[in-house]
Amino acid sequence: MSVGTSSRAGRSEELRNALVDTIVADHAAKGLAMPADVERAMRKVPREAFTPGVPLERAYENTAVITNRRGEETTSSVSAPYLIAEMLGQAADALGGLEGRDVLEIGSGGYNASLLSELVGPAGSVTTVDIDSAVTDRAVACLESAGYSDVTVVCADAEHPVEPGRRYDLIIVTAGAWDIPSVWREQLTGDGVLVVPLRTFGMTRSWALRRSGDRLVSRSHRQCGFVSMQGDGGHRMRYVDVAAGVHLRLDENQQIIPDVVADVLTQPRREAWAGVSLPPRTVLADLDLWLAVRLTREAEEFLMLTAQEAAVESGIVAPSWRFGTPAAFDGGTFSYRSALRWTGRLFDLGAYAHGPEAAASAGRMVEHMRAWLDAGSPSPVLQVLPARTPDGDLPDGTVLDKRHSRIVLTFHTSSSR
Ligand SMILES: C[S@@+](CC[C@H](N)C(=O)[O-])C[C@H]1O[C@@H](n2cnc3c(N)ncnc32)[C@H](O)[C@@H]1O
Repeated sequence: MSVGTSSRAGRSEELRNALVDTIVADHAAKGLAMPADVERAMRKVPREAFTPGVPLERAYENTAVITNRRGEETTSSVSAPYLIAEMLGQAADALGGLEGRDVLEIGSGGYNASLLSELVGPAGSVTTVDIDSAVTDRAVACLESAGYSDVTVVCADAEHPVEPGRRYDLIIVTAGAWDIPSVWREQLTGDGVLVVPLRTFGMTRSWALRRSGDRLVSRSHRQCGFVSMQGDGGHRMRYVDVAAGVHLRLDENQQIIPDVVADVLTQPRREAWAGVSLPPRTVLADLDLWLAVRLTREAEEFLMLTAQEAAVESGIVAPSWRFGTPAAFDGGTFSYRSALRWTGRLFDLGAYAHGPEAAASAGRMVEHMRAWLDAGSPSPVLQVLPARTPDGDLPDGTVLDKRHSRIVLTFHTSSSR
């Protein structure tokens, strides 16, 4: 090993380049391209400057580094590098580049703000806001030590205007939101972009939304997970235990009687399969939102099922993804998307159901899956309109009413055009 690479700075550079190589490859595997300037910034900014007290190797793992906890709950972290790269890519694509842009980051730490500072360059500006003064104090110190003292750091609840009177080309939110307060839209320039991890139907996606008058229209979305928004815009997810290690995640205004579901899970399981043979890298990310939209229309309740490893191993449930699987409860029957069924290197999609109408419910769920595949695996478009928007002015789609906004999710298929 040469003297250069044995130094801490050399080792840091080596680890950083290896991490970025991994992220670039991961993007390619997902069919995404990392913009060249995002890649350049990620190869330059030393992540360890924003993770003080953490071993160098840990700072370059492709995961979040937790920096604050309140009880069991994580309240702040330095976000996972691959996710930061994807969201910066969404922003750069939606705006056609970030150089010279004025940016507001909601949720601080310093790492993402310094990447943004590299991307906007001297002609642009970066303001980062956090509700927690411990986070902003640390961010100021870390930004200073890494040489990014041109970033403005504000301690405030970003549910309200951050620098009154200022407009930004980009607002990038790095905490999980349930709603879009109108001040976020109002702080954008006329065609500015909001990148936000937004929860709909209990599922969080990072949406890049472009402003068009008083509405925001999605340009892209990515799967993601984030610590929850705090303050006046906080909205807790509720979990209901229905069996040992099996929970239902309730969002929006969903209601469920836990005992009824617990009972139903003890009844025999019926299954249905789509009868398809899909290759391993088939992207299913939008299938769950498609199911949410379809099942919300026809079932009493659409819910997300989560399960602990032990519950899956013991066979109580066999969900498609134990951290969040689409499920429905209707007329005493409970159904959910099952784990994939592999035959050699190909897999099929299925549904499991328990209750009086189990076979029919499972069958209906796989029909929806087949319909999504037959329609060419479409992606949804999400539009955000002010809460006061009358029904007649809403675009076609499934409407979720939040506190400040009406959110409309639309899948454009050849039959709906
Ligand atoms: C995942 S961390 C941010 C990571 C950071 N952007 C980075 O560079 O790695 C999320 C942050 O959002 C902050 N936050 C949560 N609710 C907020 C609110 N209403 N206004 C401003 N900040 C908030 C939390 O305090 C937390 O520090």
